[in-house]
Amino acid sequence: MKKRKWIWIGGAILIIGIAIGGYLMEKQTLRKLAENDDLLIGSSIRYDALLEDDTYQRLATTEFSSWTIENEMKMDAMQPEQGAFNFVKVDEMVQMAEEHDIKLRGHVLVWGEALPEWVSQQVVDRASAEQVLKTHIQELVKHYKGSIDTFDVVNEAWNDDGTLRDTIWLRTIGPDYIPLAFQWAREANPDAKLYYNDYGNEMSNAKSEAMLEALSNWKKDGIPIDGIGMQTHVDAADYRFSKNRIQKWFTRIEDAGFDIAVTEMDVKLQNLNNGDAKNVQAERFGDVMEVCLDTPACGEFTVWGISDNHSWVTEQESPNGKPLLFDENGQPKKAYNTLKRKLLF
Ligand code: XIL
Repeated sequence: MKKRKWIWIGGAILIIGIAIGGYLMEKQTLRKLAENDDLLIGSSIRYDALLEDDTYQRLATTEFSSWTIENEMKMDAMQPEQGAFNFVKVDEMVQMAEEHDIKLRGHVLVWGEALPEWVSQQVVDRASAEQVLKTHIQELVKHYKGSIDTFDVVNEAWNDDGTLRDTIWLRTIGPDYIPLAFQWAREANPDAKLYYNDYGNEMSNAKSEAMLEALSNWKKDGIPIDGIGMQTHVDAADYRFSKNRIQKWFTRIEDAGFDIAVTEMDVKLQNLNNGDAKNVQAERFGDVMEVCLDTPACGEFTVWGISDNHSWVTEQESPNGKPLLFDENGQPKKAYNTLKRKLLF
């Protein structure tokens, strides 16, 4: 009789516990839950969608504690004509972020893409390239001093085989463009957190090994590289994905003395035809979140867009990609709830 009673009490406590957990999860935003873990939870943000789409704006301001400027800070948008900087849109986003107590991530200072046309005419040798790059970096970093203090300084500098990617900056300046960019950014704002950012670098492979070796050597020489951003664009059909490998790699980056950010995560579904896509997607997001939470150096988890209708995958690859946390109507998907669960427990 006694034993039965205890089973009943135990069962009741369990059910109440589950109910409270469910209630807490339901009521909390991603942002609230992430605060308890001391983690920034971010999304890339688009100016037009922010102004024109109410659902997008609501989710952007309530669910996330960090915004990465998706396109408006790239060189073609920021300096469409040489010397004529266009800060207007990003300034507005900064103001909006401040109103909602949201941190901003500057993206990106140096990249081989999104270049304005004038660059190919004006950047002809090492001297002109250095001059253009230094001015661009320092004007931006100085303008946003006090409002944006984390930057993706150099983006996507390596090829998959570990060689350096052929960009106008590599052709004119050589590999030095990378450490120089960090030094110029540091000069413009001694307090900024400066990141190298890339895709396909979230596990050990030829590209990421080459990247880590070069960045570590520069860091040892005093180049101010604070962190490494792992974009983490995932194809749900990619069988190489491995939580264990990501965990090992994050630990190695941490041991090398770098801060870590997951900077652009999305999980595209168009290549997975087994009917289980939504579960696989949720699992991938959950795995990377878990690794980030288990790695003290990982301070930010950012997704590349809010809802599937404002995603580069949908626009540039396939309408079946549906790679984000919210559907076309702004309704949370399984992946959203999985992230919340990882943050809560
Ligand atoms: C993408 C944007 O999402 C698109 O809207 C734009 O047309 C092209 O760039 N790596 C990066 C991001 O660092 O800046 C890219 O963003 C996606 C890949």
